Amino acid sequence: MRKKIAAANWKMNCTFQQGEKLIDEILEANIELKDHQHAIFAVPYPYLLMARSEVEEERNYDVAAQNCYHKKSGAYTGEVSAEMIHSLGVRYCVIGHSERREYFQETNEILMEKVNLCLENYIIPIFCCGEPLNIREAGTQNEYVGKQLKDSLFHLSADKIKDIIIAYEPIWAIGTGKTATSAQAQEMHHFLRSVITEKYGEPVANEISILYGGSVKANNASELFACPDVDGGLVGGASLVSTDFIEIIKALP
Ligand code: PGA
Repeated sequence: MRKKIAAANWKMNCTFQQGEKLIDEILEANIELKDHQHAIFAVPYPYLLMARSEVEEERNYDVAAQNCYHKKSGAYTGEVSAEMIHSLGVRYCVIGHSERREYFQETNEILMEKVNLCLENYIIPIFCCGEPLNIREAGTQNEYVGKQLKDSLFHLSADKIKDIIIAYEPIWAIGTGKTATSAQAQEMHHFLRSVITEKYGEPVANEISILYGGSVKANNASELFACPDVDGGLVGGASLVSTDFIEIIKALP
């Protein structure tokens, strides 16, 4: 069975103490994850070690960085490399969130470099894609999102791409309270899987978890996660409230 994943994207929220308390409260719910179920906390860089030690003893709970720089090392003051993240024992990294694409001018080409550096450093990228509202209104979202995948991921071998996690996050649904309907999510996820199938074949496409992101809440997670091609969620706002994120983890099929 494909991995089903509830990933918390804290973004630039929480102090260290608030973050530690949030993870504690979620772990105290003692949700026993099955083999195919995973919960991941994508936390700010300074909290990676704390989060990693919090989940150390927990089965299938993991930690992700929210970004890494697209160069290996060197004179890039203030940046953090994939190798540094790996050296902390962190195994996942969110790549290409729409906020990074928009506010930090991250292009498909830059994101390809980041994906490569993650994989070279044994880090699984959680690769984000998704269209803005004007593209959805024009009805060209499939071409737009398909291109994001092709430009940043399709240089990879089948062996490498099968480990990547994809997160489809329609920009118009992020932080807006406006969730894609489960039909819209399923349609796009199915399309993305078919694009991967075309290039890499069905067995590879069937292995890749595709998460939905954009106003996932405790009260809509079950319906979204029940779609055959939706393998969990990348959750912003609702991941900052322990009781909400607990319900979202519990909603994993
Ligand atoms: P949201 O954010 O759940 O607050 O809409 C999702 C994300 O940006 O990953």
